[in-house]
Amino acid sequence: MCGIVGYIGGKNAVDVVYNGLEKLEYRGYDSAGIAVIGEGKIERRRSVGKLVNLKENLNTNKIFGNLGIGHTRWATHGKPSEENAHPHTDCSGKIVVVHNGIIENYIPLKNQLQKEGHIFASETDTEVIAHLIEKYYNEKSSLLDAVQSALKEIRGAYALCAICADDKTQVVVARKDAPLVIGLGKEENFIASDVSALLAYTKDVIFLENGDTAQVRKDSIKIFDGQCNSVERKSQKVLWNALQAEKGGYKHFMLKEIYEQTQTIQDTFRGRISDEENKIILQSVGLTKEDLLKISRICIVACGTSYHAGLTAKFLFENFTKIPTEVNIASEFRYAEPVVDDKVLTVFISQSGETADTLAALRLAKEKKSKTVAICNVVGSSISREADYVLYTHCGPEIGVASTKAFTGQLTALYLLVMFMADKKGTVSKKQLAEFIAALRDIPTKIAETLNLADGIKGIAKLFQNTKQFIYLARNINYPIALEGALKLKEISYIYAEGYPAGEMKHGPIALIDETMPVMVIATDSKIYEKILSNIEEAKARGAKIIAIANKDNTEIVKNSDYQIFVPSTQEYLSPLINVIPLQFFAYYISVMKGCDVDQPRNLAKSVTVE
Ligand code: F6R
Repeated sequence: MCGIVGYIGGKNAVDVVYNGLEKLEYRGYDSAGIAVIGEGKIERRRSVGKLVNLKENLNTNKIFGNLGIGHTRWATHGKPSEENAHPHTDCSGKIVVVHNGIIENYIPLKNQLQKEGHIFASETDTEVIAHLIEKYYNEKSSLLDAVQSALKEIRGAYALCAICADDKTQVVVARKDAPLVIGLGKEENFIASDVSALLAYTKDVIFLENGDTAQVRKDSIKIFDGQCNSVERKSQKVLWNALQAEKGGYKHFMLKEIYEQTQTIQDTFRGRISDEENKIILQSVGLTKEDLLKISRICIVACGTSYHAGLTAKFLFENFTKIPTEVNIASEFRYAEPVVDDKVLTVFISQSGETADTLAALRLAKEKKSKTVAICNVVGSSISREADYVLYTHCGPEIGVASTKAFTGQLTALYLLVMFMADKKGTVSKKQLAEFIAALRDIPTKIAETLNLADGIKGIAKLFQNTKQFIYLARNINYPIALEGALKLKEISYIYAEGYPAGEMKHGPIALIDETMPVMVIATDSKIYEKILSNIEEAKARGAKIIAIANKDNTEIVKNSDYQIFVPSTQEYLSPLINVIPLQFFAYYISVMKGCDVDQPRNLAKSVTVE
């Protein structure tokens, strides 16, 4: 995610803000910028790439001020470039803003502001905020009033800081669904999106609450709630060291990223579901009904965890769009003779957007005149640039090598794509679409409930930490989740694990089952739930210890299995989003107990840019 730092006090804001931004580097970013109020005017420097580029820029084009704001940008709207880097200004250049989050309704707001004469200089959603503040800022309306009025028009998530050249005594800040913290100093105050940026200066902080706005001066802080009533927010002492703070207090990035999933899934669907009617809006996917009617086949291509997201999506595409769908491992696809032409839609899934095999496969599909869609997390990555259409997952940087939140982001993006296509093509009814949308909106709450199961899962993991092997079983749409669970365990705890479709056991793998082969089985509500129960019996009869992921009302499971993880129920086709969470936790805890390097497992790289 992007990072925000702000400062007001007696020091040179450029140094404080820059130092703070350095502390946020671990979060990943593609450009950075700082603005200060110098001699009565805004001075701004922005650079693409690493912070050292911004430093060089600041060294050659020096700026100075006691009030400043800065930002590291992880692109969401618009490619990484200097124009798109924050801070963003209004037309007059007097107001500057830095922002984290996503403004869902930025397109209608931008259109309206352009009609009113505002000139935009970037492709970002953030710039809308600067122009909206400009619209409301006048003799009768202070910067704080103008920010509060602007926020009334905005839908989405934000943490933001705004400053205005007319008044160098205040920074106005606000947050909703994105974190923002104020650091308390003597005759100086600090602002940051993440406490790690402040620890060098202060340990006393105020965490703003959702909907809050605040006016931060060097010697006072006034906070207002969502209704603009003045409120008190208690200050707290942060006891974390710098490394703990980077990980948000979690022991590992992987654990932090597992916990982020309630938020990241929402970030993936935010702004893509119309509030007024049950519709999926994917502005970046320009496929028309005519295009869709011409498609004879969908061909999904990806590697590793992203491939598992693709396998899950096959069920969805076939069910809802009625288009035959195949899923290919990119390293195989590129050297096969894939039957792909202009009637085949190829979908490429990649967190990094740089995986060499997936990129080569994309180029091959384009040569064969296929229309291409990319599902990517990294904006501006090679795959996202080269595909005809791109759907970003908006999960923020994933630092743990083992993919967790990017996987659920990919699944969410694929659900949206499937339903968008099915609706356009007319293969899904209004009722089905409405049910899907309601169920998807409920998923973050169900994920939050599932995250509460961590301690129980840790207890089960403890019993299996010395196991040498594991089988993961599931059926139907959860079969790829069994593969994903097994991959997680292999990757980070070096235990040999295999995922199987449960009904296939009797054709070979059942020979492996005895008391030394534990079985993890996904047995949540499904039309073939009873079949899975028989498959569990087969394994149990041969001495295997069974861990079952089930829904609370699946009472038979208590008799059939040795350990149960009861997850909230949802529509069967959305259940992969929930069922993968216990498997992520299970692999994580075993890895920790075995003393493995959770975030950087041996022999693996986060982005595989070589063949
Ligand atoms: C597993 C994992 C890898 C990646 C694979 C593809 O946890 O992270 O299997 O999924 O290397 O990477 P992307 O999605 O970046 O193309």
